Amino acid sequence: MPVGTTIYDAARSAGIDIPVLCHNERYDPVGVCRMCVVDTGGRVFAAACVRPCDDGMSVQTSTPELERSRSVLTELLLSDQPPRESDPKHTTTADNKLLELADRYGVARETTDLPVGAGRGTDVSNPVIAVDHDSCILCDRCVRACDDIQGNDVIGRSGKGYSTRIAFDFNDPMGSSSCVTCGECVQACPTGALTNKAIRSIPIRPREQLEAVESVCPYCGVGCALTYWVDRERGAISFAEGRPQPGSQSRLCVKGRYGWDYSASPQRLTKPLIRVDSSYPKGPLSADVRGEGTGKRATKDTRPGKDRGRKPGGLVDYDEVMPHFREATWDEALDLVARRLKEIHAAGGPGAIAGFGSAKCSNEEAYLFQKLIRAGFGTNNVDHCTRLCHASSVAALFEGVGSGAVSTTYGDVANADVAIITGSNPTANHPVASSFFKQARRRGTTIIYVDPRASTVSEHADIFVQLKPGTDVAFYNSVMCEIIRLGLTDPQFIAERTSNYDALAATVADYPPERGEQITGVPADTIRAVARAWGEAGSAVIYWGMGISQHTTGTDNARCLIALCSITGQVGRPGTGLHPLRGQNNVQGASDAGLIPMFYPDYQGVTKESAREVFERAWGTSLDPNRGLTVTEIIHSILEGGVRGMYMLGENPFLSDPNTNKVRKALSALEFLVVQDIFLTETAEFADVILPATSYLEKDGTYTNTDRRVQLGRKVLDPPGEAKADWWIVQEIARRVGLDWNYGSPSAVFDEMVPLMPSYTNLSHANLGSSGKLYPNPDPEHLDGTVVMFDERFNTDDGLAHLVPAQWLPPKELPDSEYPLVLNTGRLLEHWHTGSMTRRSFALDAIAPVAEIYMHPKDAADRGLVHGAMARARSRRGEIQLQVRISHREQQGNVFIPFHFREAAANLLTIDEVDPFGKIPEFKFCAVQVEAVGTTA
Ligand code: SF4
Ligand code: SF4
Ligand code: FES
Repeated sequence: MPVGTTIYDAARSAGIDIPVLCHNERYDPVGVCRMCVVDTGGRVFAAACVRPCDDGMSVQTSTPELERSRSVLTELLLSDQPPRESDPKHTTTADNKLLELADRYGVARETTDLPVGAGRGTDVSNPVIAVDHDSCILCDRCVRACDDIQGNDVIGRSGKGYSTRIAFDFNDPMGSSSCVTCGECVQACPTGALTNKAIRSIPIRPREQLEAVESVCPYCGVGCALTYWVDRERGAISFAEGRPQPGSQSRLCVKGRYGWDYSASPQRLTKPLIRVDSSYPKGPLSADVRGEGTGKRATKDTRPGKDRGRKPGGLVDYDEVMPHFREATWDEALDLVARRLKEIHAAGGPGAIAGFGSAKCSNEEAYLFQKLIRAGFGTNNVDHCTRLCHASSVAALFEGVGSGAVSTTYGDVANADVAIITGSNPTANHPVASSFFKQARRRGTTIIYVDPRASTVSEHADIFVQLKPGTDVAFYNSVMCEIIRLGLTDPQFIAERTSNYDALAATVADYPPERGEQITGVPADTIRAVARAWGEAGSAVIYWGMGISQHTTGTDNARCLIALCSITGQVGRPGTGLHPLRGQNNVQGASDAGLIPMFYPDYQGVTKESAREVFERAWGTSLDPNRGLTVTEIIHSILEGGVRGMYMLGENPFLSDPNTNKVRKALSALEFLVVQDIFLTETAEFADVILPATSYLEKDGTYTNTDRRVQLGRKVLDPPGEAKADWWIVQEIARRVGLDWNYGSPSAVFDEMVPLMPSYTNLSHANLGSSGKLYPNPDPEHLDGTVVMFDERFNTDDGLAHLVPAQWLPPKELPDSEYPLVLNTGRLLEHWHTGSMTRRSFALDAIAPVAEIYMHPKDAADRGLVHGAMARARSRRGEIQLQVRISHREQQGNVFIPFHFREAAANLLTIDEVDPFGKIPEFKFCAVQVEAVGTTA
């Protein structure tokens, strides 16, 4: 046994059972309950969960005295518990650990002579978690889960003696505390003190009455492994739990644990729909999409003169939109789609057709969709939302290191001396990854957080760099300038593994910290401190988000990060490297599978003859030798009369693309649009045909997370009505446009993909197992896969990291007297992109129901705005109305608006200028004005 092994762990590995209550192997032991006591021959019994083994130690784990001690302890604890028939855990999952011990020792609350306590109260203020203080045994598991695992530091204790209770913040109701509803405490609690509430009235039942389906969270790129517990009688999910996987390690955030009920929404599309003749010429159908919304949350108040009664959650008003469509059979709808797309193709040529695929769909579906557009219509006009999140990062990574994927995992932060988190708000956008960042800091990693907003990550940082938005290049050039001045580069790494260092050094020499301060607003001393911390680190890693990529200088921003790692030799070893935190659950996989206009699967360039020949041979057809149009270029092309027919699979560009008024014009101008989705989205209002697809929960497929982990998402539920899996629908359309496809299952598609995708070599559905595999993977039967890439060479042709110097350029639209504020857009913890899933999730919508603009107190006060007031935000492109949230996280002169809310669509304001390389729009910077509208919400 290694030194320090506890008696409990030693006994467990020897197959000896010792009962525990406060202990769980996921948390550091604290030894507070004494249930695990053993006899080591000492004066008192020892708590096995905390007591380390000694050489030659003799331990008795079960004697009559020990059993008596445990029995008495159980009886004491039980006397304070609610009766079994009303115990919140026993009446739901029926796995109350204390009651299991009571059964083991033959004690019961009803028969004890001990005084029975009650009256410490309940707390039902959280929409999905119930607190019953009478059931609490003060084992501190929830405290450790909250603090040590998730790093949220919300739960503590309050009171003294018998009135001691767990407490949220300063003994606030859980629902109004800073709790982020990750549910880690519920998963930790051994008794009925913390339990899940039923969602959509689906009762939570004992596990043996439910079916466990192992799958993956459908939201962000962290790709947490979870188990859905399914009530087959009711055809519904009862609850979800995190499960072990090397990356997420059983952790979940609020979206994964509680955000799955969108699939049961009564608004699911269940039949193919065709636009009725009277609804031509086409245009938006609902008030919000026409641009007539007021930004107010649904009130359902339809009295004359009152706000129009929108559906709860600010969703598309089906009553307003559905009359413009009629139901159709699958054959009629599919035939119409194929006929119209073929007609447009015949009349306008390949360039008249374009497709947007989805990073929410599986790898197999992404592969089939791009194959259909390329092989069926002879064009590379196929793209997806990667264009809106990390296209510039991918462009820079390809140029710099020859691969668009991460060089190491989020969990590798544990091996880093220093980690920079930049242009990212992982506590909201990659919550489980952020829990590993916070945990690493507690264990000694220095966290440097670089961002214009003081998000909660800043509270977990050793150095917080609050730079002016759009100044990243200047900041990182300045840091590199100082690193070079201090002699903290890695000359050997530079000489042996990089090219173009001299040009880089010459460029960054123009950015001494004082000039950096002038541009970025960051004190020169802070720049020097960052340079020294990074330069002196033995191992250092960078995690970045869309604050880096969503700029017209996004590629330059990422080039600087690559250069910073490369000149200091911080790539290719544990705890070092480059990690763009991917947004969607499968944006990595969709990009890998070729859902991008310039690459076939596995980033094989469409303009490269040798690559084209491979795919022409594999697909049995000639392919377009020219790069296709990107998302933003396609919208522009529609307005120019280029693209005339579109296939939209699971994307909602009306809300997700910049400059909504332009998108509205483009979608209205399309001759033919087929939308395939699970709900009637804003974009579907412009459709000629709407095809009802299965949700993530109703199909099998693989998904590749931000770490390069390929995991199986398994079918959990049956689809509603006539909804069909996306891969099936794509195949049916492919057949109707003349392709000879005959895939019987997603795994058959995967088997076709793998030989065409060298990175995925050796992978198959069969060997992904329950926790998936990282690629590249030489032996998936036995290995989890490669964590650290580029240990010996980069993927570039010459094996070197190509350093590309970048000069700082200001954003495209700077504030002025008319539009004096800078708008930053992004996501909230509780919502996902255009909200079509999360706003139909009970928990997520209940926690974050309202569109808000986050403002610095002074900016608000200058405009006479108070917290909760309605404000009008306007830019040169449009205006919206939404509530004011006074936020100490914004810098003066900057405002933040989440883009999930259709009734106050942030993209009405954003600018559609793009990065010249990645073609990503500048979502993070445009000039706006905000003013009061004279109403309060
Ligand atoms: S709420 Fe549950 S996990 Fe937390 S201290 Fe009480 S019994 Fe333990
Ligand atoms: S961190 Fe991401 S993948 Fe994990 S549960 Fe949350 S949304 Fe899902
Ligand atoms: S389980 Fe060891 S002291 Fe509680």
